[in-house]
Amino acid sequence: MTTTVITNIGSLVTNDPALGDGTPIGLLQDAAVVIDGDRIAWVGPNADAPAADEAVDAAGRAVIPGFVDSHSHLLFAGDRTQEFNARMSGRAYTAGGIRTTVAATRAACDEALEANLTHYLREALRQGTTTFETKSGYGLTVEDEARALRIAARHTDEITYLGAHIVPPDYADDPAAYVALVTGEMLDACAPYARWVDVFCEKGAFDGDQARAILTAGKAKGLHPRVHANQLSYGPGVQLAVELDAASADHCTHLTDADVDALASSETVATLLPGAEFSTRAQWPDARRLLDAGVTVALSTDCNPGSSFTSSVPFCIALAVRDMKMTPDEAIWSATAGGARALRRTDIGRITPGARADLVLLDAPSHVHLAYRPGVPLVSDVWRQGKRCR
Ligand code: NIG
Ligand code: FE
Repeated sequence: MTTTVITNIGSLVTNDPALGDGTPIGLLQDAAVVIDGDRIAWVGPNADAPAADEAVDAAGRAVIPGFVDSHSHLLFAGDRTQEFNARMSGRAYTAGGIRTTVAATRAACDEALEANLTHYLREALRQGTTTFETKSGYGLTVEDEARALRIAARHTDEITYLGAHIVPPDYADDPAAYVALVTGEMLDACAPYARWVDVFCEKGAFDGDQARAILTAGKAKGLHPRVHANQLSYGPGVQLAVELDAASADHCTHLTDADVDALASSETVATLLPGAEFSTRAQWPDARRLLDAGVTVALSTDCNPGSSFTSSVPFCIALAVRDMKMTPDEAIWSATAGGARALRRTDIGRITPGARADLVLLDAPSHVHLAYRPGVPLVSDVWRQGKRCR
């Protein structure tokens, strides 16, 4: 196996307090990293760096763990430019727009769906994303949900069954029959490909009882829950996520004190998706309130053609710092280690011996530049599972 040493790293985010300066991001100055095959083999002071088959000189620039984008919707066809335009002229965002993408996705052939997926994956990789989760949810028939997950399985292990995105128009008169499908035949067809089960628990989508039935059925099939919770309004999603030990409650834009307390005393991560608030002109989730209460926070893109058509984690970091009062350290931790927590993974989101070799070399002397220089393409090189891919 080939070894690579990255030398002269001006500033290294390890996310291991014991390796670095004692802060959660475990910052190490003048550092070096050795990659052996697909793993990190060594991390330490540049002066002590061992020799390796290949050497890369970081020339004083910063290295951070690859981003873990723990929430995206990349199995879709078409786009919703008109809806976005209308929204920017004052129209409100509603879950109803999902139907437009459902129609386009059903009409697309497998090749077109996969080409679309790989297009956005490459886009995300160029911006430093080395792990991504993605979901079904724009098929909403047994065949269309299963084929979305079958296509996703060729590209990631983090696959979520979201048959419960909305009640499709064909079941508008009988939502109970749709819930029966999602918890029955559709679940049977999708479970072999998925790791997670998700539900959009929201007015206009699924209520608390329907969501509980769907998540419980998924659990019985060996899928672990995650929940689209409290995005557009207050509701039962967060409490349900905690009750069912969901890995993550996603969005968390409208929270009561009881919701925050429930998250703080649980293993459920609050995944914040500021791209959605940005492109729907909605209020920001209160990251400070969650962090100050001791909740584990992840930051992800929610990349989808309706509410958040960005694949850029750096953009989300800049929003979280500027508008959600997260510090740059907190935002970078949340987009790496936080994402790993939201996927209940311990092998990613950190640069420590034994971890997967997922690293990003920035064209900047510090990780802080990701927020300090918004909109600037600062990702210079990416290693995913030890392979240099940019
Ligand atoms: O996470 N909230 C539900 N689903 C997506 C939006 C999907 C869409 O508008 O197409 C979200 O924001
Ligand atoms: Fe989403």
